[in-house]
Amino acid sequence: METTIFYYRQGMPIETGAIIELEDSIKRSPKRLEELSAFDAVIEVETTRLIYHFEKSDMVLGFGETMKGLDKRGSKLVSFCSDEPNHLPSKESLYGAHNFFVILGEKTRGYFIDFPGEILFDVGFEDKNIFNMVIQGVDFDIYEIQGDSLKAVVHKFLSLIGEGYVPPKWGFGYQQCRWSYETADDIRRVAKAMRAADIPCDAIYLDIDYMERFKDFTICDEKFPTFENFVRELRDLDFKLVPIIDAGVKIESGYDVYEEGIRGNHFCVDEKGLPFVAAVWPGLVHFPDFLNDDTRQWFGDKYEVLTRHGIEGFWNDMNEPAIFYTPERLKAFYAHVEKSKEKALDIYSFFELTGEVRGLANSMADYKSFYHRVGDTLVRHDKVHNLYGYNMTRSAYQGLEKIDPDKRFLLFSRASYIGMHRYGGIWMGDNGSWWEHVELTMKMLPALNMCGFMYAGADTGGFQHDADSELMIRWNQLSIFTPLYRNHAAMGTRDQEPYAFDEETTATLRNVIGLRYALIPYLYSSYMKAVKKRVPYSANLIMAYDKDVRVREIEDQLLIGDSLMIAPIYKQNRSGRMVYLPEDMLLWTSSSKEVSNLRVVKQGDRYIDVALEEIALFIRPNQALALGAVADTVGAINAETMTVVGFLCDGIEMSLYDDDGSTKAYKHEQGFDTKIWIKKHGDDIVARMAFCEHHGLMQVKIIVMDGNGVRYEGAVTRETPSISLEKVSWNGK
Ligand code: GLC
Repeated sequence: METTIFYYRQGMPIETGAIIELEDSIKRSPKRLEELSAFDAVIEVETTRLIYHFEKSDMVLGFGETMKGLDKRGSKLVSFCSDEPNHLPSKESLYGAHNFFVILGEKTRGYFIDFPGEILFDVGFEDKNIFNMVIQGVDFDIYEIQGDSLKAVVHKFLSLIGEGYVPPKWGFGYQQCRWSYETADDIRRVAKAMRAADIPCDAIYLDIDYMERFKDFTICDEKFPTFENFVRELRDLDFKLVPIIDAGVKIESGYDVYEEGIRGNHFCVDEKGLPFVAAVWPGLVHFPDFLNDDTRQWFGDKYEVLTRHGIEGFWNDMNEPAIFYTPERLKAFYAHVEKSKEKALDIYSFFELTGEVRGLANSMADYKSFYHRVGDTLVRHDKVHNLYGYNMTRSAYQGLEKIDPDKRFLLFSRASYIGMHRYGGIWMGDNGSWWEHVELTMKMLPALNMCGFMYAGADTGGFQHDADSELMIRWNQLSIFTPLYRNHAAMGTRDQEPYAFDEETTATLRNVIGLRYALIPYLYSSYMKAVKKRVPYSANLIMAYDKDVRVREIEDQLLIGDSLMIAPIYKQNRSGRMVYLPEDMLLWTSSSKEVSNLRVVKQGDRYIDVALEEIALFIRPNQALALGAVADTVGAINAETMTVVGFLCDGIEMSLYDDDGSTKAYKHEQGFDTKIWIKKHGDDIVARMAFCEHHGLMQVKIIVMDGNGVRYEGAVTRETPSISLEKVSWNGK
């Protein structure tokens, strides 16, 4: 895979830490912006415009977390981390700022605009032939990667930004959340109901109500008496508890985090140099200045308040940072209301008034009214806005690393910037129980992977609004393939746990979640290989089949690892769908982990039946899936037996990665690889397995189908690692 990298520097940019693996020789001699030949640059007083003239065949891929599909051409996107609870098609910003994109046409070029303030990306929106970028600043870096394929360019980018975050293996299990399980008893009920319904589940979440009046690093004693015992009690039932941590620190004298923050000058300041005040869940708060080393260390150390009770995972929230209002804006609003009372409310003053209400939250004027200490200077927040959530999560990661250097903690964030993937994953924020958001999950996942965010997932079932059972099933059937697999629902919505539906739905969800657990050997191996080899875990078909023009428009089928293509159902009342196969594949229509219903589907457009309780898994030629046993939790999975299901054309050569799942040994050790070879020798099909010494695996059942639809089976063991497979059925074709 050939690539060449060019590095341009304009002005004196702030160090974001996004790119960490650029060769020294390139880093030391950046090119000037004028040398960036693909774009015309216009530098103004406070902004920079970059203009690219599209070739007809150009596509634009990437940008991570957006509302858009595979090809961003025709869209307008704004890179500015936003607390955006309404994921509507017209929304230009979400929680993450991911300024990496690839222009794919006659040439293949990737660009990363390393700038932490706002950027408008008009990707042929105003004028379909022009890509117009407006950077709200004159100090930034640009990295250009020219390559011979999309795959090569993305690989190079993933190499530049460094190795991605790896959660503990239990982070691949099913996770149950709700805003909120308010008390210890609520959590106990969920835990018991999960086990009673025989639904695998590894973690239950603590949303904001576990805290004492929403104060970070506190526990409400009334709702969670003897927290440490409670964590232990849940651990004995094999559940992890994952508390939320919000960015804002409540202003309250006597509250240690607040007092320490004031004493240590850890908070962002206003124009007068006083700690900046805004309102979020706890009421009035200060925002820790995460751009500052000392503050990151101080806040990161605080996670110990919870880890000391046995907590092993966290989700960082409201870290765009979200602002409900500031006292000044609220005062101005009240004045406006008072003034409105003086005359009759007409249609214009009414809209003005409602506009004022909406404008209270997350106002740009507020983001322009506070400052960070970067080195010896004060930097206005809006200029570095996109680094806030990133540095909060960096602070948490580094704090947790200090607490236990070798332990993998679960950690993910809502806001993010390129480079944060080294410290944690992300979830896709406050979606809704809409079919459109099932589809959105599928659009975001590969774009996020291109930007390094592989540990990602949506609030399965939808955060806002009520989910119906069909939506629930179809969404879970997609989410079993996302590394972060969490069901989450907002306050006021219906119960959304898998057992909260009718019996038939619960039974279907049990099988769906069970299939996730069965697939863990394959999914975990694929994730780890992606992290280590710097390739996406999940990708659009175009990543692998770039010579096939048909796949340029396919965004509702995804590749998961090397072996699997999925084609989820994301519309209501469907019992099947059209699928485009770039080559022949082996289709397993699964309603449980039992491997029946295998058939070869030929290259081309095919209608595939997928009943509500079924999932369509397409195995690519000469590839295989590995299925393990199902258990209540990832840790309880019996690793002695496995089933390998493959599509045998010429020969399958598969290696499965595994490791201890809990330490960082994967960083310097090989991990354990199990290798499988399945080959045709005339009429004979021979399977050979190299069992890994450290792996508990004793026996592997092998099921393969060849291109003619002939199924072969056999079992290898440590004693007989090499066997001939037997023909078990012939579908008559
Ligand atoms: C935000 C988060 C959501 C959480 C809620 C309450 O909206 O995105 O996941 O449940 O805050 O903490």
